[in-house]
Amino acid sequence: METNYGPSRRLQTLASHLRSDSSSSTSPNVLFSPTAALQSSSAFQHLQQAPDDPILGVTIAYNKDQSPLKLNLGVGAYRTEEGKPYVLKVVREAEQRLIRDGSRNKEYLSITGIPAFNKLSAKLILGEDSPAIHEKRVCTAQCLSGTGSLRVGAEFLAKHYPQKVIYIPTPTWGNHPKVFTLGGLQVKSYRYYDPKTRGLDYEGLLDDLRAAPSDAVVLLHACAHNPTGVDPTREQWEGIRQIIRSKNMLPFFDSAYQGFASGSLDEDAHAVRLFAADGGECLIAQSYAKNMGLYGERVGALSIVCASESVATRVDSQLKLVIRPMYSNPPIHGAAIVATVLGDRGLYQEWTVELKAMADRIIRMRHLLYEALRARGTPGNWEHIIKQIGMFTFTGLTKEQVNFMTKEYHVYMTSDGRISMAGLSSRTVPHLANAIHAAVTKRV
Ligand SMILES: Cc1ncc(COP(=O)(O)O)c(C=O)c1O
Repeated sequence: METNYGPSRRLQTLASHLRSDSSSSTSPNVLFSPTAALQSSSAFQHLQQAPDDPILGVTIAYNKDQSPLKLNLGVGAYRTEEGKPYVLKVVREAEQRLIRDGSRNKEYLSITGIPAFNKLSAKLILGEDSPAIHEKRVCTAQCLSGTGSLRVGAEFLAKHYPQKVIYIPTPTWGNHPKVFTLGGLQVKSYRYYDPKTRGLDYEGLLDDLRAAPSDAVVLLHACAHNPTGVDPTREQWEGIRQIIRSKNMLPFFDSAYQGFASGSLDEDAHAVRLFAADGGECLIAQSYAKNMGLYGERVGALSIVCASESVATRVDSQLKLVIRPMYSNPPIHGAAIVATVLGDRGLYQEWTVELKAMADRIIRMRHLLYEALRARGTPGNWEHIIKQIGMFTFTGLTKEQVNFMTKEYHVYMTSDGRISMAGLSSRTVPHLANAIHAAVTKRV
């Protein structure tokens, strides 16, 4: 069926232009321009201007700001003390090794990517001694960073999992609802953050999972919950696991910050390994954007831990059918870097040191900001700044306060008051503290 905006409508418009132009006796010198006729009848005429992405839009606004004081704490990307993007030394070294290796070519990868990358990624998140890996119950596909891994997982579940509803925490990363809805799942939410305590709403979370249908998919941030920086304790993870398993729900972990929360890759994999250890099934989306600084290389992996090797083999075959019509197969370069780092004992060791240094710098920024607010006597309790973990602090600042800080102090952040601690430096902390102090104490 053709819509009003289909090709035949445009051809009719073009034909009518042609007729009226050729029969025009009053302006014989006006030349008919087919380009002008086509331009006046776009197939996309009906489109509205879409709003900027709420997170990436912060950077667009920041880039337009001419002030030398401007500070971008919107996007979750690591910056050095000098405020510069950082390419890890191990990444540079891995790239050099790849260049020196003359045997490499640019042929297509297989649908699920580089096999060594997949094996090493599964080991990184599930652990060296993971029974699931030894029993060959895990299938892994190299995907386009964390987002692509989540999307492939969503489409796979929409196609093959009977209960097509996923529960996501409130709040969560802004892209989650869109990824899962467009992936074909119905999105519902469970309580997660309590603004009063600025901590986990553990009872609310358990109640909502108890009330959710059996077999539902549950999205869990593996560590460093975005945007709140609030993670369950080990005991709370165990409580969550018991409910999820008792209701035969399917956990889907989003692991975008392994190593960034505590500085330890193993510590930050605790929740995933707890669930994998009970023998049950789960999905895991991994990203190397933050922990290896490979943001633009788009390197990630989707692992599905299955009940048996035979199920894993069939799941793997079906995953390929999901990926093939989506983007055919993934790109080589970023995954080759990761495989080189993870597959070399020396480079791996160096990576853990660099990762710890990045995590420690973020933790130091938390302490500096907390002390700066205390030194100014800023009203309110700011302990959550040092209690929350990972890349972000969920400040509790209101939308109005955020707008004020942007307008008066050129400090950019998402409107929910989330700031990226990784974008701060000891030089910029005083400016941020001044902005927060002014926003909190200003009279409306
Ligand atoms: C919670 C969470 N999941 C997934 C992602 C996906 O990141 P990427 O697609 O860049 O790996 C992000 C990025 O900010 C995130 O915060």
